[in-house]
Amino acid sequence: MGNKLLIFNMKTTMNINDVDKFLREIPSLPSNAIVCPEMVYVPYFINKYTVGLQNVYFNGSYTGEVNVSHIKNMGINYVIIGHSERRRYLNESNELINQKVKVCLENNLKVILCIGETLDDKENGKTNEVLKCQLDECLKGVDSSNIIIGYEPVWAIGTGKTPSLEEIEKTIDYIKKICHNLRVVYGGSVKPNNISSLNNISGVDGFLIGKSSTIVDEVRKIIEVVNG
Ligand code: PGA
Repeated sequence: MGNKLLIFNMKTTMNINDVDKFLREIPSLPSNAIVCPEMVYVPYFINKYTVGLQNVYFNGSYTGEVNVSHIKNMGINYVIIGHSERRRYLNESNELINQKVKVCLENNLKVILCIGETLDDKENGKTNEVLKCQLDECLKGVDSSNIIIGYEPVWAIGTGKTPSLEEIEKTIDYIKKICHNLRVVYGGSVKPNNISSLNNISGVDGFLIGKSSTIVDEVRKIIEVVNG
């Protein structure tokens, strides 16, 4: 069994037939795999696999959100926080993300904190600066090993493009230096056709997989390569 984490972020594109197919064709997953289904489908996944959520909200009365204090009791241990789609479309700021990280840790949840530069940042040579700012602000006042960093270049998400292997290795190194060796997983167009090379990057502690999470054969192939 591989030690690298495989975090399957199913996002919000699967209909009930897709979900049904996944559940039927993948009766179980190895222990290093975490599936993060769309909230409405969580009950179908929860007794079968290790489940994580794609987002969380605070303890209180907030119509439409998920209360952080209810997650652990449902047997869920992982939460993705600060995905770039939430930053971009739902205006999540580093400050809000920082509050979410803290409240997750207080509730004994493991956090997958997403960070990543835009294409503009990259082209202007600002990748490290932007990542450092995200880490400083999102982890402000946080002292915990229960955090996994998801390094996801925004321009690599859903585009079929990835940074070069050398770039990913260097960036992961940089992230580890500033956040005291937390685990770092890479995300952004992780696919069956590039997983073998991505898997060879030194320092990578796993992968955050979007689109391929929703395709049974691609899930199988990625697991096969990473777990050997
Ligand atoms: P992708 O998404 O694998 O479809 O690029 C990754 C993510 O958004 O976590």
